Amino acid sequence: MPVTPQQRREILMNTENSLLFSPIRIGQLTLPARLFKTATAETRATLDGFATPAVVDFYTLLARGETPLIITGNIYVSRDGKSAPMQLGADHDDKIAGLAEVVDAVHAHGGKFFAQLNHCGRQVIPRFAQSPVAYSASNVKDLLTGTQPQALSVAEIQRFVACYADAAARCQRAGFDGVQLHSANGYLLSQFLTPYTNRRTDDYGGSMENRTRFHREILQAIRARLGPDFPVIIKMNGADWLPLRDGLKTGQLVDAAVMFERAGFDAVEISVGHYESGFPMVCGTFELGLRHMVDGSMRYLPEPRRTLLRVFRPLVTLASNLLWPGRQGYNLDYTPQFKEKLSIPVICVGGFRTRDAMEAAIAEGKCDAVSAGRAFIADPFFYRHTRDRQLGPRCVDCNGCVGHLGAQPAECYHPTVKADKDAMLAREGGLLAR
Ligand SMILES: Cc1cc2nc3c(=O)[nH]c(=O)nc-3n(C[C@H](O)[C@H](O)[C@H](O)COP(=O)(O)O)c2cc1C
Repeated sequence: MPVTPQQRREILMNTENSLLFSPIRIGQLTLPARLFKTATAETRATLDGFATPAVVDFYTLLARGETPLIITGNIYVSRDGKSAPMQLGADHDDKIAGLAEVVDAVHAHGGKFFAQLNHCGRQVIPRFAQSPVAYSASNVKDLLTGTQPQALSVAEIQRFVACYADAAARCQRAGFDGVQLHSANGYLLSQFLTPYTNRRTDDYGGSMENRTRFHREILQAIRARLGPDFPVIIKMNGADWLPLRDGLKTGQLVDAAVMFERAGFDAVEISVGHYESGFPMVCGTFELGLRHMVDGSMRYLPEPRRTLLRVFRPLVTLASNLLWPGRQGYNLDYTPQFKEKLSIPVICVGGFRTRDAMEAAIAEGKCDAVSAGRAFIADPFFYRHTRDRQLGPRCVDCNGCVGHLGAQPAECYHPTVKADKDAMLAREGGLLAR
């Protein structure tokens, strides 16, 4: 809806003394505010990874909400790194034209747009993603999916370095304003960082210097292709959350982040956990999510594991509700330690829902910017509504979106919140108002 002059005056007064709505630099890029849309897999591509009108629509709404920086869901850099069906790919030049259409839709509304580049490593159910094989730093079986990966040879690591750089170059050609390497949540780059999944004894294992080598080589390869000014940021864990296994604690992850800053990354975004951790990544409640997961993303689990999941679902739900209740800014438990050692921006994701909580996180120096995922799935205009202190559809952390992930589009599946969202979109002219 058009803003009247009186409303514009109110908005300006509203944001005048706000840190959240003050500019921030990421590399050479200046963004007008510090609330971003984090990566959430869209699950709207074709089966072979091409962008569709549904992907364009998903991002058009976020851009219409004036979101200053949108990060795509994870995009696979090579076919064997695909983690789910209907995931976007940047593994071949024939994907550039489709990606460019998505970028143009965002740019038409003035937003900046980063592509998140990923290889899933061992975190895949190969039959679900139609992946031929699973790779990892070492051949450590994934306890959740039961997937047994092959350890990458040095030649294969070099092949993947080139895949990441090629994918970044394709994204730049498609018009993206920057890329984010996904090194959080237990995917391939995270598997290289973590001693539990990286048991190598060559130049890519052992010391932190070695376990960050793959990341640094990818960055160098991207810089060699795209120059020093193209923003490259990294998402990583603030804690691995792998009790009884050799996961990384915050101090060790800060050491890795310092190496990333020295290597030339432009910002870090802090998340938490691997698949094997359970659900610290998406604190909330788990009835809806787990109910859908058994027949959704987990429907290709080997049958004995699926039966276990079915039988123990009530217990897993209860335990998850107790262990990971929803709370705002839960990764602020880790970000202050990153802020202490880094000069590049530290972005905190996790549970943010209200303007006051986001303002406080930045004002208290716990992070430089915040990002949100589920809040934007419930309300694509979350940024504008937050800025203008208007109440939009409010995510209740039910994790229905997570339960459906991969099997169906990432969408709000909470009946009441979804009804609010549909009503709001109808009022705002829906996609027709593009
Ligand atoms: C449906 C869904 C899909 C997600 N896909 C991705 C992804 O592709 N890449 C990624 O880094 N994180 C992904 N995440 C994790 C989010 O980036 C974020 O860390 C998490 O949702 C917590 O933030 P929130 O409380 O603001 O939702 C996903 C989360 C959800 C709910």
